[in-house]
Amino acid sequence: MPIQLDILDLHAGIEEKKILRGISLSVRQGEIHALMGPNGSGKSTLAYVLLGHPGYRVFDGQVLLDGEDLLAMDTDERARRGLFLGFQYPTDLPGVKMRRFLRESYRSIRPEEPDGEAFDARVQEELGNLDIDDTFLGRYVNQGFSGGEKKRAEVLQMALFRPPLAVMDETDSGLDIDSLQVVSDAMNRLAQEGTGILLITHYQRILRYIVPQEVHVLIDGRIARSGGKGLAAKLEKRGYDWLREEA
Ligand SMILES: Nc1ncnc2c1ncn2[C@@H]1O[C@H](COP(=O)(O)OP(=O)(O)O)[C@@H](O)[C@H]1O
Ligand SMILES: [Mg+2]
Repeated sequence: MPIQLDILDLHAGIEEKKILRGISLSVRQGEIHALMGPNGSGKSTLAYVLLGHPGYRVFDGQVLLDGEDLLAMDTDERARRGLFLGFQYPTDLPGVKMRRFLRESYRSIRPEEPDGEAFDARVQEELGNLDIDDTFLGRYVNQGFSGGEKKRAEVLQMALFRPPLAVMDETDSGLDIDSLQVVSDAMNRLAQEGTGILLITHYQRILRYIVPQEVHVLIDGRIARSGGKGLAAKLEKRGYDWLREEA
């Protein structure tokens, strides 16, 4: 049975402040959904709530991962059960090199799998796919990384972990065209191999490389519109304001 993530009438925010006001959407393994919207509409808030960030509060609604209450799980369990999150502003880990970080995070998610030479080979293969230099593995996590390198590092993790479900927050922002192409290819490949992806983005341009099953537009904490390719094209032409006026 394919695993799915169901967000059901989710109301959430920061402390007393309500930001998400009733969001519902479902992503199945192998599907790509785009969650788009202007700055400040609540996209990253959703990513943090899905992570279980302690600064965020759920007022109402449910999130189910494979039918089970995600919000009752701690962050590690969410990851072990197959939810991967890529962040808009990945934090650096001074003193921890990429090589060790990848190995240890993989081990914590897949404790049952061997991680010796086979894992190293997988890392090499994915470095190649993502056009990342070997020296990357010897660098401290995210320290001094360019915007594009941080995003490639997130996608590298996603590609290694092959999670059933991934939520990627603005993985496309700040990427030049070559990086955008590489990152999009990787996401398309992962989706073909069974990962369900919720692609959070402010910009329409990644949708030239990735064709989502569904596009959802978030305005002021509500999904103002869901649709297919046609909606994406309309957003490219008209921006978000027409939906704001209708909301
Ligand atoms: N730490 C914070 N404290 C209070 N409000 C915040 C904080 N972070 C974000 N917000 C507010 O929450 C709303 C949604 O922000 P965010 O989820 O980051 O939107 P997006 O990712 O769509 O740009 C905005 O109005 C923003 O100002
Ligand atoms: Mg954001």
